[in-house]
Parts: sequence; C-alpha cells; structure tokens
Amino acid sequence: MAVHVVEKVNNPVRVAQIGLGGGIGPLHLDEMEKNPNFSIVAGCDSRLESEAVAKQAARITALGGKISSDFREVLKDPQVEAVCIAAPHFLHREMTVAAFEAGKHVLVEKPMATHPDDCRAMLEAQKKSGKVGAVQMQHVGRKSVLELRRHIQSGAIGPIKEIFLSSLWWRENPYFERVAWAGKKMFGNTWNLDGIMFNQAIHFINQTLVLCSQGDLPAVADTRDVQVALYKFHDTPALEMEDCAFISATLNTPDAPRLWAIATTCSRVDRHSIELIGTHGRALWNGVGYLFVDGQPALEFTDDNKEFGGTSRVFNSFAQAVRTGTRPLTDFSAICKTTDFVFSCYQSAGWKIKKAPWSATDTLPEIFRQVHQQRKLPAALKSVPSWA
Ligand SMILES: NC(=O)c1ccc[n+]([C@@H]2O[C@H](COP(=O)([O-])OP(=O)(O)OC[C@H]3O[C@@H](n4cnc5c(N)ncnc54)[C@H](O)[C@@H]3O)[C@@H](O)[C@H]2O)c1
Repeated sequence: MAVHVVEKVNNPVRVAQIGLGGGIGPLHLDEMEKNPNFSIVAGCDSRLESEAVAKQAARITALGGKISSDFREVLKDPQVEAVCIAAPHFLHREMTVAAFEAGKHVLVEKPMATHPDDCRAMLEAQKKSGKVGAVQMQHVGRKSVLELRRHIQSGAIGPIKEIFLSSLWWRENPYFERVAWAGKKMFGNTWNLDGIMFNQAIHFINQTLVLCSQGDLPAVADTRDVQVALYKFHDTPALEMEDCAFISATLNTPDAPRLWAIATTCSRVDRHSIELIGTHGRALWNGVGYLFVDGQPALEFTDDNKEFGGTSRVFNSFAQAVRTGTRPLTDFSAICKTTDFVFSCYQSAGWKIKKAPWSATDTLPEIFRQVHQQRKLPAALKSVPSWA
C-alpha cells in the first residue's frame, strides 16, 4: 500500500493567501504557483508598503489576483474558496474563525494556535461551517515519515518503550528582535507563547506524536504525566519565552512509551532526530527514516524529491479534502492535541522559565547527552549544571 497518495483534484482550489512576507509566505506562493491543485486568486498583507511584501503582492497581481491590506475584505470575495494563513501565531484564531464564518476553507500555518481554548474555538467554527480546517506542518507530509510510521504501525520494532527526541535550532538575538510579536508570551490580550516549543520544535514534537499515534492519519497521540524544565539563555529582552526545553511525558497509547525530549534555539548546528526504541528494534528519523531490527539496519526511507516534498503533500491533502471531503493529513481535530501537549508543558513547569547565562550554551551538548542517558531533567542529573 502506498503512503497517502494524493490525486490531482478536478479543479484547482481558488485560494487567497493572508500574510505575504515573513519567513514562510513567499514559500507558500512558490508551492501554490507550481501546484496544479491551486489557483491563487487573492493576497492580503497589512504591510503592503514593505518592499518584501510588495514583491510577493506583485506575483499575485501578475497571476490576475486581487490584493488587499484587510483580511476581512478578502473574506467577502466570492471568488475566494479557501485561505492560506501565513500571518503570526496570535492572529491565527481570529483569522481562522472569521474565515469559517465567511464560508471559506482554512489552511493555517503552525502553530495552529498556542492556547487550547483558541484551538477549540477554531475547531468549533470549522465544524459549524462544514468546511476543511488543516494546519500547514510540512514535515508530516514527508514520505520518510509516512513510510516509517506505516512500518512502526505494522509492528516492525515491536511495542515502543521509549522515545528520544532532539530538536536543535540556531537563532541569534536579531531573530527575536525582527518583529514585535517574536518571543512574546502574550501579544496584546492574545496568547502568543513564542518560545522554542511552539515556534520551532512544534514540528518535531508533533512529528513524534504522529509517528506513535494509532490508526489512519490524521492522528496525534495524547500524553500524560508531563514533567518539564524551561530555560532562557539568549540575552535579549525581546525573548520573554524559553529557548531551551527539557520534556518528559508518557504517551497515552497502548505501548505507553516514555518520551524524553530536548529542544533549543541555542544550538550552533540545526539537527533533529526522533528515536523510537521498541522491544524488537529501533526506528530513527533524522530527515531520513531508518529501521533497525535485532541490531541490524533493516530499511531506509527517503523523501520524494525537491519538487514534491512534505509541503506539497500537505497542500495536496488540503485540496483533496476541499474537493472530495476526505480528512486532510493535518486536520484541526488531530493537531489540537499537539497544542494541548505543548500548553501542558508550560503548566507542568509552573510557567517558570529560568534565566541561564549565554556562556553556558557551550555545555549544552554534554547536558543533552546526560539527560537522555540518565533519563532525568537537568536539575536531577548526577552532576547538576550550575544554571539548572
Ligand atoms: N512552517 C514553517 O516552517 C514556518 C516557517 C516560518 C514561519 N512559520 C509560521 O508562519 C507564521 C508567520 O511567521 P513569520 O515569521 O513569517 O511572521 P511575520 O511577522 O514576518 O508575518 C508574516 C506576514 O504576515 C503579515 N501580517 C501581519 N499581520 C497581518 C494582518 N493583520 N493581516 C494581514 N497580514 C498580516 C506581515 O506583514 C508579514 O508579511 C507564524 O505562525 C510562524 O510560526 C512557519
């Protein structure tokens, strides 16, 4: 059986993109421009005067699309069937609910939202509208992940006992200083929680919960017994949230594996790995999926190719859901659970984020090794780091 093959839909989905600049907007335009399942009919950005935004708006105009600075105007346009929201986190709920109320389908960037109440409001609005709601989490659409999950599900490594996730990113102070919402807990009266967990590591936290979930996708595993320690090493006031998270939790699946996760934006190398230890073998995903059975390499799964990757599959599954009523790979009801989990991490940490000196980031690789080896949070290690 092939992994989640998505067919070309009968007629392209007429989409408006909200949020044209920033880190991801232009990439979505790249995807939808080349993807025959989409037709870009409108674009919206509140900063049309910005050179970077104007450049993207010009691409849409050249395709015959309309441009507006007000997303509510876009939602009134009967030509627009669906919106692709690439605006900041704190706007996801407001824009999504308004889009459903206007009868549009929604593909919203990750994180779906940062508070469970916001996700529930988005899900309720979706159900009421009968339209499709999906989250753009491109790594879920990678063939390497889908193939690995299929083999894990068919018992290739036996029941899963432990999971080790390591999600290492590199972000310097100017990254947090680039826009006012970056790194903030709240933005105005709205939850924003822009730390490592909801901004960057959400991709691989979600990936872990998807890999271990039961049944057909979309699916995300629930968690319990969450223990978390959060730190902030960067020394810019623009970052209010954590840049280093240590998470331990049990997955609410029949195997009930314990997860040990490390996530940081203080790593000079970008590297992500998810390792699942089963009773008969081991699965590793680090961009490529690997299965080891009885200590021997068994199977290897790579992604499709540069032209068709995880993003294309996520967009296509959205288009297919719009046209045929299937559930998209990253359906709202599944991804809500990832928000629940990350939010519970803050609650478990008592919302405490301990300040640690930037100079100590050199010691992090060794601490990460010890945390995974000893299966303890930093303050409980045999040799406790001074900053913990
Ligand atoms: N999937 C990924 O790999 C990935 C990568 C980067 C960012 N993101 C997500 O994309 C979202 C945007 O992040 P960003 O760093 O590009 O943010 P950003 O602040 O740069 O904003 C993106 C665009 O949205 C526009 N915008 C802001 N408010 C608006 C409004 N009210 N109406 C219309 N447009 C508005 C901005 O002008 C900007 O052009 C975030 O939720 C982020 O988590 C995802």
